[in-house]
Amino acid sequence: MGVDFIALLGAGRIAPRDCIQPVAAARLTLEPQRAEHAEAMFEVLSDPALYEYENAPPASLDALRARYRQLESRVSPNGAELWLNWVLRLADDTTIGYVQATLRPQGRAAIAYELGSAWWGRGLASEAVQAMVNELAQHYQVRHLFAVHKHQNLRSHRLLLRLGFTPCSAEEHAQRGVDADELLMQRQLTAAGQGPVTPASS
Ligand SMILES: CC(C)(COP(=O)(O)OP(=O)(O)OC[C@H]1O[C@@H](n2cnc3c(N)ncnc32)[C@H](O)[C@@H]1OP(=O)(O)O)[C@@H](O)C(=O)NCCC(=O)NCCS
Repeated sequence: MGVDFIALLGAGRIAPRDCIQPVAAARLTLEPQRAEHAEAMFEVLSDPALYEYENAPPASLDALRARYRQLESRVSPNGAELWLNWVLRLADDTTIGYVQATLRPQGRAAIAYELGSAWWGRGLASEAVQAMVNELAQHYQVRHLFAVHKHQNLRSHRLLLRLGFTPCSAEEHAQRGVDADELLMQRQLTAAGQGPVTPASS
C-alpha cells in the first residue's frame, strides 16, 4: 500500500511541495513545475507547431504564471485527483517542455506531454515520459496508465507505442466518452515492470 498523497494533503499533514520531487533522466531533468517556470515555458508553449491537432497557446505570460501558481497546490479543484507537472530541462538548463500526470484512485493515471518542436525527433520526449512513468510506478504506485491523442497525431501515437502503450477496446472508448477523433491508449505497470529511462531508438 503506497502513500495516499491526496488524503495527506486534504488533512493538511503534508505540504504540496512534498508531493512531488525532481526526477533525473539520462539527458534531462524533470523539475517540479512552479510559477517561476512560466517565463521559460511561455516561450516553449508559444510554438505554433504544438497546436497542429489541438489546444491553443497560453493567452499571456501573466495568465500562464497564474495557472502555474494554482497548479502548485498539486490537487484538482475538487480535491479528488493529484495533479503532477514537471518541466523538462536539459543539462545546460534549457527548458524544452513538460510532462504531466493526473492521478486517480486505484493506481490509475492519465498522462500528457509537450516538447518545443526544436527538440523533436531526438528521443527526448520518450526519455522524459519513461522517466515520469518510472516515477509514477515507484513513488505513487501507479499501475494503469492512460493517454489520449487525436488520431492524426502520429508523433504522439509513435511515442506511446514505443513506450509500450496499446490502444484500448471500442468498449473502453465508449465507456470513457472518448471523442470520435481521438484514440485512448493504455499501459499496465507492475511494481518491478518499469522500462529503462532511455528507450532503444528502434
Ligand atoms: C508528441 C511529442 C512529444 C513527440 O515528440 P517526438 O520528438 O516525436 O518524440 P521523441 O522525442 O520520443 O522522438 C522520437 C523520434 O526520435 C527518434 N529518436 C532518436 N533518438 C531516439 C532515442 N534515443 N529514443 C527514442 N527515439 C529516438 C526516433 O526515431 C523517433 O522518430 P519516429 O517517431 O519517427 O520513430 C511532440 O511531437 C509534441 O510535443 N507534440 C505537440 C504536443 C502534443 O501533441 N502532445 C501530445 C498530445 S496527446
